[in-house]
Amino acid sequence: MAEQESWTSRIGFIFAAVGSAVGLGNIWSFPFQTASNGGAAFIVVYLVAVFLIGFPAMLVEFVIGRRSERNPVDAFADLGYGGWTIAGALGAFTSFATLAFYSVVGGWVLIYIVGSATGAYFGDAAAYFGSVASGPTALAAHAVFMAITIGIVALGVTGGIERTTKVMVPSIFVLLIGLAIWVFTLPGADAGYGYYLSPDFGELAANFATIVPAAVGQAFFTLSLGFSVMIIYSSYLGRDDSLPADGGAIVIINTLVAILAGLVVFPILFAIGGEVPEAGGSGTAFTALAGAFGQLPAGAIVGFVFFMVLLFAALSSAISLLEVPVSYVVQHYDYERSAVTVTMGVVIFLLGIPPAMGTGILGWYNDIVFQFLLPLVVLLLIVFVGWVAADLSADELSQGSSVGSSFTGAWLWWVRLVVPIAIVLTFLLGIQSLLIKGGVLASPVFLG
Ligand code: PHE
Repeated sequence: MAEQESWTSRIGFIFAAVGSAVGLGNIWSFPFQTASNGGAAFIVVYLVAVFLIGFPAMLVEFVIGRRSERNPVDAFADLGYGGWTIAGALGAFTSFATLAFYSVVGGWVLIYIVGSATGAYFGDAAAYFGSVASGPTALAAHAVFMAITIGIVALGVTGGIERTTKVMVPSIFVLLIGLAIWVFTLPGADAGYGYYLSPDFGELAANFATIVPAAVGQAFFTLSLGFSVMIIYSSYLGRDDSLPADGGAIVIINTLVAILAGLVVFPILFAIGGEVPEAGGSGTAFTALAGAFGQLPAGAIVGFVFFMVLLFAALSSAISLLEVPVSYVVQHYDYERSAVTVTMGVVIFLLGIPPAMGTGILGWYNDIVFQFLLPLVVLLLIVFVGWVAADLSADELSQGSSVGSSFTGAWLWWVRLVVPIAIVLTFLLGIQSLLIKGGVLASPVFLG
């Protein structure tokens, strides 16, 4: 059996997990969802979703990972519940499939980093996006993004993932704060903040039934839950570490980055008096924001920095997605990590060719993951931890932490009863919006 790897420190784990959590979902999806769903009023709903649904669900994945100290596929058999292997396998498949299109969007970010330096998108941002988002350029950029991701994961848990996220995650913070300070000096900044944050409880009340599930869906996605990422990352964790404390830190940092991203995005859009897209996804962000960079003083530098932030966010998420299936093959078959990583990465690259050739297909991949696979996996894991292996779960949660049995008991009941209701509701509303509007409720990576 391959030797079990582990983080060198607790901070290493937190950076890696934050790196996974902070991604395109924080920087694209969150600000625009907030602005169009009632501003500060939406943030209240989002905070409730993240802390009351996302956080307990994150502990579910932690419990499985740290208890088994195994990859998500083999974890269940190791814990004595071989029949549940399907839950872990589905999670690994979700990661695998997600990376195929996440990497295409990562490729766009690479294109825009180059484009910021050369000014390629400054003239007509919308036309530029149309010309690079799919086709040969997108495919080449997808290949480069996958190659970087493969390179990091091949170097291993400490030598690759921990070492790079320790640089990327603080960089995201520093650069975003720098950008937030710079945009504060822009002429339209006030209007931008107003648009983003002014609380509109009327809007919230009118659309409560759709806004709440949207917030819950966003909470799972942004915390990387349902992909088995948090299972594998916590399997590399020491037994004396507190799962609730680490989880709390990860959730708080992830939320701060999301809120901060909005403080950067909207002043930029308002500074040029530009149109603010109703629902912002990757498409609108690459057109509306890129268009703004073309018109602002120092736009080239700001654009470059902004897309670097996005690159670090996307890359530190992509490596976590690749680590899930790689860890399974490495541990299960005792193969060499670098060979497995390259092979797996090439297969994922191939699976990413269709979405790189058409944004419609990309949206389709995204819908399958977000609407079906993610809620299904989260639900299975919750039933397992809350009902099937409850004793073991409660025991593991208290391991290394100072929380008392009342906390573990409350968590268990919450996970048994409340979290599943939230998931099922989100799932049903997602289906409904898919059928009625022909589109998704909130598609975090890609909203055309
Ligand atoms: N949390 C990431 C985001 O917000 C998405 C993601 C999910 C990344 C799962 C990795 C694994 O964009």
